[in-house]
Amino acid sequence: MREYAADKRCSVYAASRSATASMSTENVRYVPGIDIAKEKAGQDLVSRIKPSGAILDIVIVTAGYFGTETFDEPSWQEEVKMYTTSSIGPVFICHHLVKAGLIAKEGKIILVSSESGSITLRHESEGGGNYGHHASKSALNMVGKLLSLDLKEKGIAVGIVHVSLGCDCFIRRQAYGRAARIHAY
Ligand SMILES: NC(=O)c1ccc[n+]([C@@H]2O[C@H](COP(=O)([O-])OP(=O)(O)OC[C@H]3O[C@@H](n4cnc5c(N)ncnc54)[C@H](OP(=O)(O)O)[C@@H]3O)[C@@H](O)[C@H]2O)c1
Repeated sequence: MREYAADKRCSVYAASRSATASMSTENVRYVPGIDIAKEKAGQDLVSRIKPSGAILDIVIVTAGYFGTETFDEPSWQEEVKMYTTSSIGPVFICHHLVKAGLIAKEGKIILVSSESGSITLRHESEGGGNYGHHASKSALNMVGKLLSLDLKEKGIAVGIVHVSLGCDCFIRRQAYGRAARIHAY
């Protein structure tokens, strides 16, 4: 994100849930007041970006919340918050952006998941607990797979990443060669 923001060839839309935002710069426009855990987030986002006429080459959905739990103390409220933020919100954000025609043909959606959502990478040594966080990332992984099937005919690719070098490399490749417009959470 920093690389994109520093690259004058890119136009970056950076959404946050806080009501206030930093002052927009030449190529970074802040979109405050977008809470991905709210049903209206996708529609609000569309209404804020569409007037600019921008078409997004890359959409990065990175909002997350980690509330810790143990088997002895699971939390209903925290689990609802994690599933809503990590697995439900992204479906609606992508739905509204695509339906509004705001994602370019051959554009990309990157969902920032976590290896903690991988069932095969979970072993006895890591132990249990953190049900809402890990399982909501597993659900996000499935959301990404399903979105990729739905968006294939539009030429929109969906990537699911664990924040690490892989994500950085991917973004960097996209940034060079053409002016990329990103939307990030
Ligand atoms: N850090 C790691 O080691 C790690 C490892 C694997 C995956 N990840 C994933 O990488 C992503 C970023 O991680 P991080 O460590 O940077 O997390 P973080 O420091 O906890 O930041 C989370 C960000 O998500 C935003 N957010 C939370 N709920 C939101 C909502 N309802 N609507 C809009 N924005 C919301 C927060 O906004 P506010 O500022 O308003 O709170 C904050 O900017 C997450 O999806 C996380 O699961 C992180």
